[in-house]
Amino acid sequence: MRHQTSKISPSSSFLSIRYSAVPIVILIFTSLLLFASLRLLQEELSFQAEKDRFNGDLRDAKFPWNKLCFGPTYEKLRLAVFSKTWPIGAEPGGMERHAFILYHALAARGHEVHVFSVPSDRKPHRDIHEGNLHVYFAANDHGSLNTSLALEICNKINILKAFDYVHTESVSLPYWRAKLVPNVAVTWHGIWYEIMHSKLFLKLLSNRKVLPPGSPSELQEAMPRLVEEIRFFSNYKQHICISNSVGEVLVNVYQLPQRNVHVILNGVDDTKFVYDPELGLQFRRKHGVPDSASLVMGVAGRLVRDKGHPLLYEAFSLIAKRHSGVILLVAGSGPWGQRYSELGSNVKVLGTLEPQELSEFYNALDVFVNPTLRPQGLDLTLIEAMHCGKPVLAPNYPSIVGTLIVNESYGYTFSPNVESLTQALEETIRDGPKLLQKKGMACKEYANSMFTAAKMALAYERFFLCMKDTRYCQYPFPSDC
Ligand SMILES: *[C@@H]1O[C@H](CO)[C@@H](O)[C@H](O)[C@H]1NC(C)=O
Ligand SMILES: *[C@@H]1O[C@H](CO)[C@@H](O)[C@H](O)[C@H]1NC(C)=O
Repeated sequence: MRHQTSKISPSSSFLSIRYSAVPIVILIFTSLLLFASLRLLQEELSFQAEKDRFNGDLRDAKFPWNKLCFGPTYEKLRLAVFSKTWPIGAEPGGMERHAFILYHALAARGHEVHVFSVPSDRKPHRDIHEGNLHVYFAANDHGSLNTSLALEICNKINILKAFDYVHTESVSLPYWRAKLVPNVAVTWHGIWYEIMHSKLFLKLLSNRKVLPPGSPSELQEAMPRLVEEIRFFSNYKQHICISNSVGEVLVNVYQLPQRNVHVILNGVDDTKFVYDPELGLQFRRKHGVPDSASLVMGVAGRLVRDKGHPLLYEAFSLIAKRHSGVILLVAGSGPWGQRYSELGSNVKVLGTLEPQELSEFYNALDVFVNPTLRPQGLDLTLIEAMHCGKPVLAPNYPSIVGTLIVNESYGYTFSPNVESLTQALEETIRDGPKLLQKKGMACKEYANSMFTAAKMALAYERFFLCMKDTRYCQYPFPSDC
């Protein structure tokens, strides 16, 4: 458009002075040009949208499958699943929660799911049979998974009617067993390459006196483990990662075939984590946050060293001195709880919250802070906070900047050291509650489009269908949206 208008401006206005009829002609001409160029722009935009819409074999997708919109299918699957534990009672964390949400969702969609696991409380429990979901407990004396026993049960069921596909949560099915299973997929919740990354940060911080020094041999012992891991990963046929960055590492460093590496992001139960400012306000009152507070930050989880609390403690003690109206809410328990409460009236240590209080907690915040020093996997708390319409502040690990805080619309990132964290906190304070609220709404929209349990389950469903029958690897499939 810029190109078009510059063509007609100076010379044409000069001509219009001499011939009175000319302006009208020019006007018509200009509007025709404008109209034409608008059409051109429209066509260009729709061409761009077409290009953005993936079309082809899903196994070639280099982005999370969650981005796509899968429709219903009539094909039903029969799946065998190995999971180190199965949650009993208390709110499950990380990998367990992923397994619980995913298999319940797949069973609800009519697939037959047989899980081989042990109860998370390590006590004896009966097997679970709920509709299409079957959980078999196969524990050894210590309460951990007895793989031989689990495989025995699995084989018995397989003889009755063969499984379509086998899925293992990390190494729940060890590689020397997986090697013998041709139709196996593994979901990696954390890889050694990421653990090396976090060990490096812990080491750097320990030299800066924020952390006590760890064992001196820790780093030396880490490298051989990485080599070992790279060697055994190829025993698994298909690999699913929970962040874009791990997908890249598995292809570029672990040298697995691109076609066998897929990204499916974790989703959380988005009916539990919802935007509700009224609940947030009540939570603030209940916990004595003064109405005069200029900004409320929050952190949640176990209050231990590896979750980055030494960093946040140092940084926030500086912030509290500079900004008396900024409040930090600390949910959770652990050794750092006591330390935080020594920081005075700017910090409120809430202790461990009930699972249903967590959503209220997120809603009470202007920004959710996660200073973790462990870059493995994708922290679910960040996703939960985003669902509640809150921007997030987290370290700039590849899994976070590549998948969650992909740009400044969703929050703030920092390098894992006190100076950088302090700067990021200062930036949030400068931006203020209004802008944070705007970013929070962008987070909510983004989380709804990527990180819901339903999106995750649909992506896994399609993955297993594609593994069973390559027709389903085509996208869009006629029933897709
Ligand atoms: C695991 O199960 C196998 C097969 O049932 C059994 O022989 C073995 O003793 C069990 N191992 C442990 C450590 O419980
Ligand atoms: C941030 O990333 C999202 C998702 O990729 C994109 O839609 C949005 O336009 C980006 N915003 C900025 C300011 O770059």
